[in-house]
Parts: sequence; C-alpha cells; structure tokens
Amino acid sequence: MTLKKLDLLSESQSVTILEEGDQLKLDYSRNQSIYALQTPLKFAVDVSNIYKPIQYLGAKHRPLPIILSKTLEAVQPDTYVLDMFSGSSVVSQVFNLNGLDVISNDALHFNSAFSNTLLNIERKVEDLQALPQIMGKLKSFKLKKEHSKPFEEKIIEEKKLLATKDTRELLNLYFSLPQINKVLFLNGSNTHQQTKYILKNIGQTAVGNCPLIANYYAGSYFSIEQALELDRLRNGIDELFVKKEISKWQFHFLLTCLLNVSSKIVYTAGKHFAQPIKQENILKTQVLHKRFYDDRLKNVWLEFLKSSEALTLVSEKNDKSRKNLAYSKTMEDIISSSSKLPPISVIYADPPYTAQQYSRYYHIPEIIFDYKYPQLQVVDNNPTSGLYPDNKFKSRFCSKRDAISAFEDLFKLAQELDSSLVISYSASLSEDTGNSRMIELYQIIDLGNKYLPICSSEVLKFDFQYRQLNTTKKIVQTKDDKEFLIVFKQPSK
Ligand SMILES: C[S@@+](CC[C@H](N)C(=O)[O-])C[C@H]1O[C@@H](n2cnc3c(N)ncnc32)[C@H](O)[C@@H]1O
Repeated sequence: MTLKKLDLLSESQSVTILEEGDQLKLDYSRNQSIYALQTPLKFAVDVSNIYKPIQYLGAKHRPLPIILSKTLEAVQPDTYVLDMFSGSSVVSQVFNLNGLDVISNDALHFNSAFSNTLLNIERKVEDLQALPQIMGKLKSFKLKKEHSKPFEEKIIEEKKLLATKDTRELLNLYFSLPQINKVLFLNGSNTHQQTKYILKNIGQTAVGNCPLIANYYAGSYFSIEQALELDRLRNGIDELFVKKEISKWQFHFLLTCLLNVSSKIVYTAGKHFAQPIKQENILKTQVLHKRFYDDRLKNVWLEFLKSSEALTLVSEKNDKSRKNLAYSKTMEDIISSSSKLPPISVIYADPPYTAQQYSRYYHIPEIIFDYKYPQLQVVDNNPTSGLYPDNKFKSRFCSKRDAISAFEDLFKLAQELDSSLVISYSASLSEDTGNSRMIELYQIIDLGNKYLPICSSEVLKFDFQYRQLNTTKKIVQTKDDKEFLIVFKQPSK
C-alpha cells in the first residue's frame, strides 16, 4: 500500500505555477510537454478579476491556471462544467470568466450566495447601477426598538472599555450577557425576554424578531455592537427583498458582502468560525491581545461598504454568461435527480479530504445566511465552546468509512453522464495521522480505472513560485501537504 502511494507521488508530472503580481501563470516553457492545448494565453489567470468572498479553507487560488487549462481541454461545445464542491466559488468564477457555462454546487447554503452573485445568476443589466441608492436605504434601516433597546446600554459600556483597553472589565461585561448558551437550562427561571422568546421559537426565522447574532454570538465571535449591526443589516437586506426593493441578484450580492464582513471581523485563530479564541487566553499573549482589539474595533458598516466596492469592481468585469446555474445541494441529491441535469461534459471535484467537516468551520456563515434560530448542540450537559448548532451537515467525504463509497458515487455519475472528471487532491506527506486523508491518491486512480476505463488519465502535482523584481522564488507550502490534479478525460468526440 505504501509503495503504491510513494510511486504515485514521485511518478506524477510536476507543474510549475508562477505568481507575478496579479497574474497566475503556468510556466509554459517548462511544462510544455504536459499540454495538449497550444495557446499559452489560456494558462494565465488574472486574480484581480476574482473575488474571494470569505477566508475559505482549501480554496483553490494558486492552482487556478492548471484547473482551467485541463478543464478547457476536456470540455465539449454546448455543455456545462459542474463544479460539484464549489465552496468559495473561485474556481467557478474562473470558468465563467473564460467563457464556460458553469453549474456551481455546494452542500452548505451560504456558498450559494457567492455563486449566485459571482456567476451573475438572474442578474439584470441595471442591478449594479442601483447599488448606491440601496446602500443609502440599508444605512437608515433600523431594528425594532424593543429588539435593539436591551443592547444599547451594553454597547455604550463596551465602547468605553474598548477605548480604554480595559480588557478585564470587557471580559466581565461579556460574561454577564444573558445569551442563549447561558440560559439553555434555566427553564422557568430565565427572566430575559429575548432568549425566552428565542428558545420557544427554535428553527423559526429571526427576520423581524429578536436579533439572532447578538443573542448567540456577541462577546465571543463578535463584539456586542458588531453582532447587533450584523443583525441590523441581515434584517435590512431581507426587508428590502421582501418589499421587492432589491432584485434576487442584489439580495445575494448584499449577503455576500455581509458574509465577507463576518469573516473579516471574527475573533478566531484562522478567520474561520471553528472556535472563538478562549477568553482566558486573550490576556495571555500579546498577539492575541492585539488581535482582540484589532478585530473588535472594526466597524461593520464601513467594512460592508468596502466589501461592496470591491465586489462591484469584480462584478463590472465578470458579466459573461447568463446560462450559469447555482445549486445548494448535496452531491447525493444531485445524483438522485441526475436525469434532470443539463448536458455536462466536465465535472470538477474538490471535496474535503480530512475528517474536518466544513459545516463545523463555517457554522456561523450558514446561520447568518439561513437566519433561523439554531438549536445549540449540547455535549455532556453543556453547549459546545464553539456554540455549534445541532444537526450540522456531515459529509461522507470526511469519514474514513464512507469516503470511498462517496467517491464511487461521484465516478458513477461521471460514467452515467459520459463526462470527464477533474479532481483536486491534497495529499498529506507526513506520517502524522492528525490530518490524515480519508482516501489515498491510488484509491482514486483505481476507481477511475474501474468506472472510467475509456478515459485517458493524468496525475499532475504542483510547485508554486513567485516572481518579484526579476527574481523567482519558490513558495513554501505547508511542508507536509502536496497538491495534485487528477484528470480523467473522455476521448474527443
Ligand atoms: C475543499 S472545499 C471546496 C473549495 C472550493 N473548490 C474553493 O476553491 O473554494 C470542499 C467543499 O465540499 C463541500 N461538501 C462536502 N461534502 C459535500 C457533499 N456531499 N455534497 C456537496 N458538497 C459537499 C463543503 O461544503 C466544502 O465547501
């Protein structure tokens, strides 16, 4: 087994991707032999045309030129490319910018805000022009007085303490907040009106009701003021949509900006949402202490305006195709209704490879998007420190037991659709099992040989370099990980 793994790692072709300013390029001079395509222009991706909506683990930024070139080689006229695990949508965006019709899909709902926006789904010509006026309306939107009032005094107190950097008093203030995780087991003795209401309405929409983000995540992931401002904007966006004052595309545009802000201001280690930094650690290191103030002092409205400006710039350039589709389904759901899919000639697959569930790392964006009061998960009679919701989506790709059969289903779909399959794979080169992969590279190749025997197959591994002031340096990746692209290409028709 180990031999097979090592053989593949060393025998696969090596591809160099060069980063030069905003350009990501395949180093064509070195890699020429690997490509059937003869047009070097196709191998450059201008990243200034791509919007990264959120800090997304495993997002495929640097490999974009190779994913694009191999997809272009395999795609057939008048068919779609299906980005089955689209995540942050950056790969779908590149496909769209290069004239391909894309179906973007991901099991997590919030990712559909990104693909709906950045693939121009139901976008009207006038949608961008109207945005400044919409921003004006959002700025003046107010939560109901009875919903914002209980937070007002606390916000004044918080502002004072943030200005004087009185960390201990701030932590005391946060400790005293009567939030959902603290009142879960108080039952009849909970005297706090908002959390009482919320606990009776779990699973119901928070639109027009008690602010969700402030009652669940203020003081941990966000400041009290930031959380309430996120609630205000989330409600405002919904109200404008329900009153038909914004289009569906604008609705997704604004949600994308809001999710972008939540990722910029969140006080966590990696700007994902797996766990807020523990309160007892904030005072322990200078770095965490500094980060605490940097993050807490970010103004949500100003960040929202910045996001909107950046997203407008990209959207001005990406209005390419009006045939794209965005789904928010599991792969399993897509497979179960595969007869309804439009013609697809390439499936691009970038599933998770470790036991880490994306629904755990991104539970807060999912809740901001769905905006329904979540039932908090309880472990050993306590809510979790990450404040995770119950019933998070569990991917089969994140289980050693189920990953092979999940891949098998993916290959069967490619077989049924006669489509090529382009797979991103990330291997762990270390023996450390902490981040071990649920499936090995050779097992994927074996599945290809079984289900797509008529396809040609290639395994490419990458090397990243950047060029600055006439010098070219190697980009050191996480030393234990190595990225691959596995291509099963149908014979040309
Ligand atoms: C490595 S990430 C994709 C990153 C993406 N290519 C990008 O550049 O941002 C894997 C994605 O697979 C999604 N996922 C996991 N299991 C899934 C399933 N069974 N069906 C659909 N999506 C799934 C996760 O929600 C996650 O967004």
